[in-house]
Amino acid sequence: MRSLIDILDFSVEEIHALINTACDIIDNPKKYSEKCRGKKLATLFFEPSTRTRLSFESAMYELGGNVIGFSEANSSSAAKGESVSDTAKTISCYADIIAMRHPKEGAPLVAAKAASIPVINAGDGGHNHPTQTLADLLTIHREKGRFNNLTIGLCGDLKFGRTVHSLINALSRYKGIKFVLISPDELKLPSYVKHDVLDKNGIEYCENPSLEDAIGDLDILYMTRVQRERFFNEEDYLRLKDSYILEPSKLKNAKGDLSIMHPLPRVNEISVAIDDDPRACYFKQVLNGKYIRMALILKLLEEAEK
Ligand code: CP
Repeated sequence: MRSLIDILDFSVEEIHALINTACDIIDNPKKYSEKCRGKKLATLFFEPSTRTRLSFESAMYELGGNVIGFSEANSSSAAKGESVSDTAKTISCYADIIAMRHPKEGAPLVAAKAASIPVINAGDGGHNHPTQTLADLLTIHREKGRFNNLTIGLCGDLKFGRTVHSLINALSRYKGIKFVLISPDELKLPSYVKHDVLDKNGIEYCENPSLEDAIGDLDILYMTRVQRERFFNEEDYLRLKDSYILEPSKLKNAKGDLSIMHPLPRVNEISVAIDDDPRACYFKQVLNGKYIRMALILKLLEEAEK
């Protein structure tokens, strides 16, 4: 049974096909409005979410399907001690496809092994967030028209930011990619990502703690929130939370066609004064997330029926 747990579960060609489907959905929504009639998506969210859960749900509704699920662990039998495997087996009796978010790294993989229906990782701890990456890739495609020859600044919490880890994996399969890693010392990109992904694929990167120094070289600036829920103590979070705040003055040396991205939610790291700047793409990412999740649901349900 085909699932999506890690962005590398899909080949570059498969991701491009998903992007093409998403673009066709954008142009011809009516063509897709009955494609999932009679099908059910289960959204199993053991951690809070606004965009991922609700975009999956609106994606399924716009495909003519239905949705069941829960939005917090406490309203499921996980609160009584039920395992992820048993939950996945149970939901396989009720639904056709699962989208699961869980605070524990690897939980969606455990679910996929137990389930008899496709499982989509909707974010697992500080590990991966492949469907955010699909939304990011659709946004880059629509804004830049290419995935090669891009300099991407990743700014903020590169240690716990799961969207960053998945995006690095995805973009490391293209040519001419350069990453500028902008973070405080304590929130640097984990060495396993540097060695296993960047070094292994011969991807150029540098670490530069100064956003002001780095910004002029960037085609894409990917801002991230400091992930409070992953910290072991509040003091460290409070010390680091405002390490980077993108304000209009910081864009002084930025390229005219810079794309400013953020997976959201934002806290303080992008001033609302940036929202009207034509380079701001973060609410476009939100909308693109719905279209690419529609394409993903279609693909996995079609494969499950084969
Ligand atoms: N980008 C993202 O995962 O947002 P939510 O936590 O609101 O789903």
